[in-house]
Amino acid sequence: MRTVLIANPKGGSGKTTLATNLAGYFASRGRHVVLSDMDRQQSSLQWLERRPSQLPLIHGMDGRGRHADSLSADWTIIDSPAGLRGDKLTDAVKTADWVIVPIQPSAFDIGASQEFLETLREEKAVRKERTFVAVVGMRIDSRTRSAANLQRYLDKSGFPVMGNLRDAQIYALVAEQGASLFDIRPSQVARDLQQWAPLLHWLVNADRNA
Ligand SMILES: Nc1ncnc2c1ncn2[C@@H]1O[C@H](COP(=O)(O)OP(=O)(O)O)[C@@H](O)[C@H]1O
Ligand SMILES: [Mg+2]
Repeated sequence: MRTVLIANPKGGSGKTTLATNLAGYFASRGRHVVLSDMDRQQSSLQWLERRPSQLPLIHGMDGRGRHADSLSADWTIIDSPAGLRGDKLTDAVKTADWVIVPIQPSAFDIGASQEFLETLREEKAVRKERTFVAVVGMRIDSRTRSAANLQRYLDKSGFPVMGNLRDAQIYALVAEQGASLFDIRPSQVARDLQQWAPLLHWLVNADRNA
């Protein structure tokens, strides 16, 4: 079983979008996926409720779910609330093989993420290389100055950037239908699927080498 924690203390940074699409990806590959929602707003679990039964099955679990419930899963994807910190953060990082931090390119988002990335760096599981951290740029328009600023900041952060996802309506559209980008016709989202490739490659290959 492999566990991916999606975390960023800022609301609206794209955690649920990343978590639901990642769950959708592994389910589309025939994997047994648990989507665990630590957020009291339960956006990921509501997404699952909207998910049509003919799409690949994803098992939902709320934050109180027992760890044992996900033991038979190939992949557990954990969506987390804004403001995750302290012992709760430490525990979540410890159970995860990877932490993925979505960051949007505004100065406010970069500022809010800075302290969080420093906290993550000091977590024991990260220092001991039992948990690996990567960043994904969210709603990136590569032509803008803010995207360049984010890139510059992340280059200094020392954590790998495993992709930049553009700002695209399709994320909201599929989310409304309980679907992910991986549940619709690939030709409809060819450009977006390409942007997911580095992150998926990183996770899947690390899995193979484990
Ligand atoms: N790459 C993207 N392109 C367009 N909209 C996005 C993208 N990523 C996230 N969003 C939108 O931004 C909003 C906040 O994202 P969400 O995943 O709910 O953030 P969080 O879970 O961190 O609060 C949602 O309406 C979502 O559809
Ligand atoms: Mg959310």
